[in-house]
Amino acid sequence: MFPSERPRRLRRTSALRRLIAETSLAPADMVAPLFVAEGRAEPRAIESLPGHYQHTLDSLGAEVRALQLAGVTGVILFGVPERKDELGSGAFDDRGIVQVALRSLRDEFGDDVVIMADLCLDEYTSHGHCGVLRSDGHVDNDATLDLYARAAVAQARAGAAVVAPSGMMDGQVGAIRSALDDEGFVDTVIMAYSAKFASALYGPFRDAVGVEIAHGGDRRSYQQDFRNRRESWREARMDVEEGADIVMVKPAMTYLDVLSDLRREVDVPLCAYHVSGEYAMIKAAAANGWIDGPAVAVEQLTALRRAGADFVLTYFAREVAEALSS
Ligand code: PBG
Repeated sequence: MFPSERPRRLRRTSALRRLIAETSLAPADMVAPLFVAEGRAEPRAIESLPGHYQHTLDSLGAEVRALQLAGVTGVILFGVPERKDELGSGAFDDRGIVQVALRSLRDEFGDDVVIMADLCLDEYTSHGHCGVLRSDGHVDNDATLDLYARAAVAQARAGAAVVAPSGMMDGQVGAIRSALDDEGFVDTVIMAYSAKFASALYGPFRDAVGVEIAHGGDRRSYQQDFRNRRESWREARMDVEEGADIVMVKPAMTYLDVLSDLRREVDVPLCAYHVSGEYAMIKAAAANGWIDGPAVAVEQLTALRRAGADFVLTYFAREVAEALSS
C-alpha cells in the first residue's frame, strides 16, 4: 500500500462526508404522484400503495398543502373516472375529473406549486389501452394523437403548467406541442415519458386507477422492451426534437443505465419515475421488518440523482421530504 492510498481518510467524519458528497436529495427534487377520483365523498385508501389514496377534491387540496409545507413543489395528477368508454373521453372532456381537479388546485396554489397532469387515455378507456383501438384490436397510433392533442389543450386550459404524455405513441410530443401552440398555450411545459418500459412494476398503479387491460393484453406493442437499451436514446432525441422540455425514464431502479445514457444523450432536464411497484416492494419488506424502509427509500432516490436525474417522481415524496426537513 502506498502511504497516500487511504480513501477512508475522507470518510472519517460526517462533516467531511457531507463536504465531499457529489449528490444531494432535497424536497424540491421530488414530484408527488396523486390520484383524484370522480364522484367520491371520502378518500379511499389504495391497498397496494400504503399511505396513498384515491382523493376527493378536498383531500387532494389538503395533501398538496402538506406537500408544500414539506418543501415538495411538484405534483402530478392521475384521474379515476366514474365511467369509461371506447375513446377515453374523460381524458379530454373539460368536465373530466383531472380537468376539474386542475382548476381547483390552480385556484388555490397558482404558480407556487408546479401542477402537472399525466396525459394518457388508459385510465379512461373501457379496454384499458393507452390509445384508441382499430377494428383488428391494435392501437391506432395516429388516431390516438388527435385525442392526446385534445387532452393536452383541455389540461392546459384547466391550469396544468406541465403536461406529461405517457402513452408512448410515436409523434405524441410533436402533436401535443403544435396543438398547445395553436391554442396559445406556448408556455405549457411538456414532460415526455420518453423511455418508458413495458414493466411488471406498474401493478399497484393499475389497482390505484382501476385499469385492467382487456383480454389479458399488455402494452408491449407501444412501451419499450426491457431487453433494449439503445432505442431509448432515439426515443429521447426524437422527443426533444419534437419539443419536449423535460424527458423521463420509467421505471427507475432497473434502468439506471438508461438514465445515465440519457444524461449524456440530451441536454434538457431529465427525471426518473420511481414507480408504484418500486414503492410497494420497499413498503412490503419494511412492514415485515426485513429492511429499514425510509433508509432504502433515500438510498434509491439518491441513486437516481447520482445516475443523472435532476428530479424524481416518487410515492415517497411526502414521507422523505418530511424526514429531510424535520
Ligand atoms: C399510463 C401510466 C402508467 C403509469 C403512469 N402512467 C401505467 C401503465 O403504463 O400501465 C404507472 C406509474 C406507476 O406504476 O407508478 N397512463
